Amino acid sequence: MVPYDRKVSTAKTNLPEIKLRLLQSEDLPKFLEIRNSVSEMLHDHRTFTLAECRDWFASRKPTYFLVESFELGIIGYFRWSLVDNQSKTVEIGLDLSPEFQGRKWAKEIYAKFFTEVLKPKDTKTVVLRVLKTNTRAQNLYKDLGFLVYEETDIDYSMKADFDKMLEYSSASSLDVEH
Ligand SMILES: CC(C)(COP(=O)(O)OP(=O)(O)OC[C@H]1O[C@@H](n2cnc3c(N)ncnc32)[C@H](O)[C@@H]1OP(=O)(O)O)[C@@H](O)C(=O)NCCC(=O)NCCS
Repeated sequence: MVPYDRKVSTAKTNLPEIKLRLLQSEDLPKFLEIRNSVSEMLHDHRTFTLAECRDWFASRKPTYFLVESFELGIIGYFRWSLVDNQSKTVEIGLDLSPEFQGRKWAKEIYAKFFTEVLKPKDTKTVVLRVLKTNTRAQNLYKDLGFLVYEETDIDYSMKADFDKMLEYSSASSLDVEH
């Protein structure tokens, strides 16, 4: 098995202009290609066929957001779900295609997701789970202001206050050179 950090570019380049849009059924082949390529970094290590992916999409109707660049096409996607409506807690995750990992794009992409998607939903708390083996993602989450609140043998559960994180991530994304 090749360690994930050897499969990806480490070159830092500026993030091209991106937009976030809802995942549609016609996007499933590209979505699945990315999902299967990052399976080692996810809790569910399985890979799926396109038919399985279509069934999942039809039954679960996920409101995932694609990260799309005019220049590069679909570069990744956000998984997210409302965990608790009363406390406005959402669980999130971003998966980038391997060729776009390690370029320090994630923070700026998260800042856009927070402003455009989570803020209008009046989000108060954001939670996520990350595998202990996934040090890159952990570094990113610490940088975004997430703190560990639970730990198992294999993973950390992390959470962040949305307003604080929004303020911090939009301020720091302004530091990115263009
Ligand atoms: C996790 C992910 C979204 C991070 O996005 P990214 O743009 O690749 O992240 P960055 O390049 O900004 O790296 C994040 C941080 O980890 C550090 N880092 C980069 N490569 C690393 C590596 N191989 N090991 C440890 N840390 C690493 C970076 O230096 C950066 O920290 P810094 O800003 O303090 O320097 C992306 O790599 C990805 O999609 N990975 C595969 C799927 C996945 O892991 N999803 C999350 C599941 S919880």
